[in-house]
Amino acid sequence: MKVLVTAGPTREFLDPVRYISNRSSGKMGYAIASAFVRAGHDVTLVSGPVCLPAPEGAKVERVISAADMLASVRSHLEECEVVVMSAAVADWRPRVVADEKIKKHGGSMVLEMEATEDILMSIKPLKGTRTFVGFAAETGAVGLEAKRKLTAKGLDMIVANDVLEPGAGFEYDTNKVIVFDRKGNRTDLPMMTKVDLATKLVKMIEAFRL
Ligand code: CTP
Repeated sequence: MKVLVTAGPTREFLDPVRYISNRSSGKMGYAIASAFVRAGHDVTLVSGPVCLPAPEGAKVERVISAADMLASVRSHLEECEVVVMSAAVADWRPRVVADEKIKKHGGSMVLEMEATEDILMSIKPLKGTRTFVGFAAETGAVGLEAKRKLTAKGLDMIVANDVLEPGAGFEYDTNKVIVFDRKGNRTDLPMMTKVDLATKLVKMIEAFRL
């Protein structure tokens, strides 16, 4: 299969030296890209800024902002049969990006933000027979929020975790997730390494497409 995986955070600049971002390390997405390669698939990884080596055997496209990531995903979508959006896309960006470093002038500052593109929502009309898999990093009501996003974003599968749980989510090498699919299945997976989880998720995605 031809697979498109996104990983890592995005950065939204307010001036040439400062940006807004999030805690995503990219570990989960990189592990998923590697697991697809190991399973014999053709993988393109669209990656936000992370400190990880490129997964061997995957084509890697590096992006910075949510807008860059959307453009990259759009450019690869046509040829892909599976899209796994594990990136933690920034939801807002500064409305104005200053050309020069903003000076502090001794006082506080107010930053006006605007919504970034929702990548899954914007590729939803182009889904066709492709399988779309999303992630949901929550801080409560995990099942409810994940199912809401599964429907709203037209996904086939969503991988949800509670980022407040020790050992799950941001920066850890382990994760504990619940997978919901469009057919109504719920799979509670135990805590495991992101590498083992990635292998498991690839098998679940392959089985979903049978
Ligand atoms: N996502 C996306 N584009 C965005 C934000 C998120 O494609 N601008 C994708 C993520 O990659 C993930 C899924 O949508 O696969 C859910 O992301 P999440 O941040 O949990 O949800 P949001 O849509 O941002 O909703 P909320 O802020 O209400 O939690």
